[in-house]
Amino acid sequence: MTLAFTHDVPPQRVVFASGALTRIADEAARLNFSRALVVATPGSGARLGQKVVELLGARAAGLHAHAVIHVPKAIADAGLAAARAATADGLVAVGGGSAIGLAKAIARDTALPILAIPTTYSGSETTTIFGITEGARKVTGRDVAVLPKTILYDPDLTLGLPAAVSAASGLNAIAHCVESFWADGRTPVTLALASESMRRFAKSLPAVVADGSDRAARAECLIAAWLAGSVLSVSNGLQHKLAHVLGGLSLPHAEAHAIVLPHVTRFNLKAAPEAAARLQEALGSGDPADALAAMLRKFPLPQRLRDIGFDAGKVDFVAGEIAALAIATPRPVTADDVRELLEAAY
Ligand SMILES: NC(=O)c1ccc[n+]([C@@H]2O[C@H](COP(=O)([O-])OP(=O)(O)OC[C@H]3O[C@@H](n4cnc5c(N)ncnc54)[C@H](O)[C@@H]3O)[C@@H](O)[C@H]2O)c1
Repeated sequence: MTLAFTHDVPPQRVVFASGALTRIADEAARLNFSRALVVATPGSGARLGQKVVELLGARAAGLHAHAVIHVPKAIADAGLAAARAATADGLVAVGGGSAIGLAKAIARDTALPILAIPTTYSGSETTTIFGITEGARKVTGRDVAVLPKTILYDPDLTLGLPAAVSAASGLNAIAHCVESFWADGRTPVTLALASESMRRFAKSLPAVVADGSDRAARAECLIAAWLAGSVLSVSNGLQHKLAHVLGGLSLPHAEAHAIVLPHVTRFNLKAAPEAAARLQEALGSGDPADALAAMLRKFPLPQRLRDIGFDAGKVDFVAGEIAALAIATPRPVTADDVRELLEAAY
């Protein structure tokens, strides 16, 4: 790597332990929460949210279990209204990137501190990145106010995560790592974290997909997810831009990442020998793109863009959006390159 970089990572408190959920009230007290709004997705997310409300006791102001993937504007507005109505002085986001994403949208307007309890592997809890979807476009930005102050990781909470969500959010996290290897903003720290994350995922993600009750593998994957999330801030090249544009078209985020990842990897590694060497080492394979494709094939996930409802008529739209970004690292990306890649993934 070039010997010039800026490493600028805001601090976060990270508590990791089996059973750590029982420490939630103490962690909320450390943040001076006296009226925390718990934010979750509906269904099983709401049940877990209710448990968090009970554990918070007098420090809870209520449960808002209305998070939806990609944070549609109306959902963000409703979340903001709920936080104001509850006169919340803090947010506890429990669940995956959807729950954390809604808490971030609320924090962006209110500067309320967030305590995150992540239950998937997608890594939003470690970033200052927020996103809100309006129409067919997802608008993202960065704001240190949305970075959770504390992350509480309890691998026990992931034991019931369905194989498909484990697989998809795990591949989403792997995508953060892969792209960080060739990112302009990479530093010796992000390279080390990404390598370590990839090694853990390569061994333990297939294990949790095969057996969700494997506690050791669950803990390994959650640690890997933390490390992967920690490099996401530098991972903003073709892989993440494509997933972002596809997300705006209402495609499922983690699945879109997983499907395009082998194709983007094959395209970019031709121009990124250092990234290729790191990936070969972490995946134990001479052909990292092939190894990622093989991992995807073994997982209970949609395999092609057509399987997740991508409209082939939108190829030119996506190609145009990506080409307009003039991505140049590790190689320039033209509209034709994107068309070819989408066709291969379709
Ligand atoms: N801002 C960022 O830095 C960032 C990073 C990654 C992802 N994201 C965003 O996160 C969203 C996707 O998040 P995700 O992939 O983590 O999935 P998700 O939060 O959408 O969750 C997927 C499904 O799994 C369920 N679920 C979550 N945890 C569970 C558990 N422990 N047991 C049983 N079911 C559980 C949820 O209720 C949901 O139905 C997207 O909107 C994406 O853009 C943002």
